[in-house]
Amino acid sequence: MLACDVDRTELDDFLDLIIRAFGTQPPDRVADIRANAVRRIADGRCLGVRDGGRLIAAASIIPMSQWWHGRSVPLAGISSVVVAPEDRGRSAGPLLMTAVLGRAAGRGMPLSMLHPVTAPPYRKVGYELAATTYWYTLPIQALRPLAPPGGAPVKLRRAGEADAADVIAVLDRVHAAAANAATWRLTISDGTAHAERAAATADAPRLTAGGLAALYAGTPTTTLRPAGLLTGPAGADAALDAAFACRPFALDSF
Ligand SMILES: CC(C)(COP(=O)(O)OP(=O)(O)OC[C@H]1O[C@@H](n2cnc3c(N)ncnc32)[C@H](O)[C@@H]1OP(=O)(O)O)[C@@H](O)C(=O)NCCC(=O)NCCS
Repeated sequence: MLACDVDRTELDDFLDLIIRAFGTQPPDRVADIRANAVRRIADGRCLGVRDGGRLIAAASIIPMSQWWHGRSVPLAGISSVVVAPEDRGRSAGPLLMTAVLGRAAGRGMPLSMLHPVTAPPYRKVGYELAATTYWYTLPIQALRPLAPPGGAPVKLRRAGEADAADVIAVLDRVHAAAANAATWRLTISDGTAHAERAAATADAPRLTAGGLAALYAGTPTTTLRPAGLLTGPAGADAALDAAFACRPFALDSF
């Protein structure tokens, strides 16, 4: 078995692998997969594994970026990882993923991400479960009052592919602003709390964002510390526990 670039002449074999792994696709989806594959092959972003000249595995790289503390970092989105059913269990998957990660790194993408159907083959090459995907659905009424500052509501129109660049630019500006990144100091006194930006100091306990959320919902410091959500001096732990002690509950179910 050898890792390779999928060749343009192997398009049908590539599609066959996809369909055997993910099931029969409607004709317009097949056309999309084919068009994407042509682009990715031409750009050296479609890798595979051959065994005796036969294509037995494939995966594609989609150049993306992820925002970390207000900085955009190139990220390889790994798509359509497939091994022919009769060739599974022979380490073609890890061989393929090692080549894919090498190609991504060579193209200046230090991060990569995928949506795994199962963890073990990806853990083998260094991945770990690290994030959640959220889908938001907005009721259309929420968009109707949208207006520029001081202006009248804008007329809505149907969005199309041509709007993608603008949407991405807006999202980038939001992430770049990273309004709540950096270090904040939390002061609690007389039943009220106040958060303000401040430089980190060595003598203060430090909570991660998730740590603060957990503390707020009543998770004790003895749980936060082993999880790495609370670090630094422990002298104020009893005070934190007292200030945030509660039995959280939600009235809404959704
Ligand atoms: C997932 C897939 C790519 C793995 O490729 P593979 O070449 O069969 O991988 P290997 O069997 O060599 O697996 C490597 C390790 O992962 C484990 N593994 C593989 N598939 C697994 C599964 N479905 N569940 C749990 N463990 C699995 C193997 O046991 C092996 O671990 P080991 O070496 O400790 O025994 C392949 O099974 C496949 O194409 N599946 C269908 C399409 C698909 O779901 N793609 C993934 C999209 S994210």
